[in-house]
Amino acid sequence: MNPLRNVCAFAMLGAIFFSGCDAAPGKPKAGSETIAPSEISDFATLYSQNCAGCHGTEGHGGAAIGLANPVYLAIADDATIRKDISKGVPGTAMPAFAESAGGLLTDKQIEIITSGIRSNWSKPGILDAANPPSYASKSSGNAQQGEAAYKTYCESCHGPGGRGAQKGSAITDDSFLALVSDQGLRTIVITGRPELGAPDWRANVSGKPMSDQEISDVVAWLISRRARNPGRPYSVSNAANH
Ligand code: HEC
Ligand code: HEC
Repeated sequence: MNPLRNVCAFAMLGAIFFSGCDAAPGKPKAGSETIAPSEISDFATLYSQNCAGCHGTEGHGGAAIGLANPVYLAIADDATIRKDISKGVPGTAMPAFAESAGGLLTDKQIEIITSGIRSNWSKPGILDAANPPSYASKSSGNAQQGEAAYKTYCESCHGPGGRGAQKGSAITDDSFLALVSDQGLRTIVITGRPELGAPDWRANVSGKPMSDQEISDVVAWLISRRARNPGRPYSVSNAANH
């Protein structure tokens, strides 16, 4: 889970490897097989060392959404993905990876990951006929209308009030809402989590895709449930959106 952990393990391995065979610290022998962490330039290695712990092996999802989701990649552009990797998502488990933000990846490595996600996992044109909602919300939603949209599109699985039911977990409780960003909620409503059987915005009710406004509204309703629980540890990003 912790991206630092792999790097530390790597550094420790290196230390054991070189101790006793090279007196000058930090000066590996020419021809050494060991690559400095900042020199790794292979997408699969960078992804598995830094991302797979949360986003799953080969992007198939884990605690966090699967990035090998062509619907996600059709709505999120490279600038968004690059920024999230570089700066992280404040108030959530998504760490900042850029050296400039205290992380351990070079800008070049972040570029390799960003373009690797796109070239390996996207399916260009997959939403061409689908009139997809925008990645970011175009308007602030209406929580009251969102409650109605929730009943139409979500309650069948997540139960009354979002408290959870057989087919879907609780999504209005403190422990969930405290750790997810507003955009994180919107992303899941649009893209679903196919790896877990969560439908995308088109498939909650068969033949009735959600409108962009309904998506904004249902997210506003979820956010209003969070705001309503006093004493929750407020994140900077989420507080700024209120
Ligand atoms: C410690 C767990 C963790 C690690 C490691 C991690 N992520 Fe994340 N990531 C998350 C969580 C949780 C979110 C959802 C944050 C939110 O609520 O918006 C997220 C969100 C994202 C998003 C934004 C999704 C959206 O809504 O548009 C991208 C892109 C992303 N991660 C890419 C990566 C990449 C690439 C790596 C590796 C370099 C990585 N993450 C490593 C936990 C992690
Ligand atoms: C067909 C059943 C179904 C419908 C309809 C559905 N979901 Fe889900 N949803 C799931 C499943 C399954 C998951 C993944 C496992 C879980 O968290 O229960 C999920 C996950 C989620 C998550 C992430 C929960 C987590 O712990 O990471 C959110 C948020 C969410 N759904 C919101 C919604 C909203 C809002 C709607 C309506 C617009 C909706 N869902 C409609 C089945 C459904």
